[in-house]
Amino acid sequence: MRIDIITVFPEMFRGFLGESILSRAVRAGKVFIRTVDLRDFARDQRRTVDDKPYSGGPGMLMRPDVWTEAIEAVRTPEARVVLTTPAGAPYTQRTAEDFSRAEHLVFLCGHYEGIDERVRRLVTDEVSMGDFVLTGGEIPVAAMVDSVVRLLPGVLGGGAAATARESFGEDGLLESPQYTRPPVYRGLAVPDVLVDGDHGKAEAWRKRQAIDLTSRRRPDLIERGGTLVGGGNDEEN
Ligand SMILES: C[S@@+](CC[C@H](N)C(=O)[O-])C[C@H]1O[C@@H](n2cnc3c(N)ncnc32)[C@H](O)[C@@H]1O
Repeated sequence: MRIDIITVFPEMFRGFLGESILSRAVRAGKVFIRTVDLRDFARDQRRTVDDKPYSGGPGMLMRPDVWTEAIEAVRTPEARVVLTTPAGAPYTQRTAEDFSRAEHLVFLCGHYEGIDERVRRLVTDEVSMGDFVLTGGEIPVAAMVDSVVRLLPGVLGGGAAATARESFGEDGLLESPQYTRPPVYRGLAVPDVLVDGDHGKAEAWRKRQAIDLTSRRRPDLIERGGTLVGGGNDEEN
């Protein structure tokens, strides 16, 4: 998989991409990730990427010409071009799974008051990280890159089975409570069923716990029949 991130703050990704599972995935050749500085496509010496919005209003908007040239320089015919915006489809594990099957992802990090509307015609997916407003698209893109790369074959130990059992995995439920050593800590014991060695019983316990936890905390997931909804852009561009 190839990932391009177009941003005015490429430095923000340096530490993030250089650590942990992501950096290992890059070094192992599972994914090629590049940051592209939007300012390289500016037309003036000051490398301006924004301008005042028509009809007034506070703040600045990102220019369509700069964004169009950056996207056209980076995208391939098979690329998914993903715009970060509070107006996008809510990002879910299903979106991450969908993106993990792409050959090439191009993520667009907006800033200031956002991006000129005319850039949307180049976009295949519009994604929101939640009902709140961030300063820029870099944090949503970091979250998406992380959640997509960990789904790529060979990136996590345990393979597809590891992610299928997690929250929002195959059954769409939250993961059941988990325990590690010591078996008793400050009087709190690990449930017997997990230490008895009967894998069938432990599995049945986990399933019941997952259903119970999800019913209490996220009944919306149960109402959807344990299947999560989300991802993509079902609106006309
Ligand atoms: C300050 S925000 C712009 C908000 C915009 N004026 C609005 O009211 O919807 C700047 C950029 O941050 C990113 N952003 C902010 N909140 C986001 C969210 N919840 N999900 C995805 N991207 C977000 C987008 O790229 C956006 O263009």
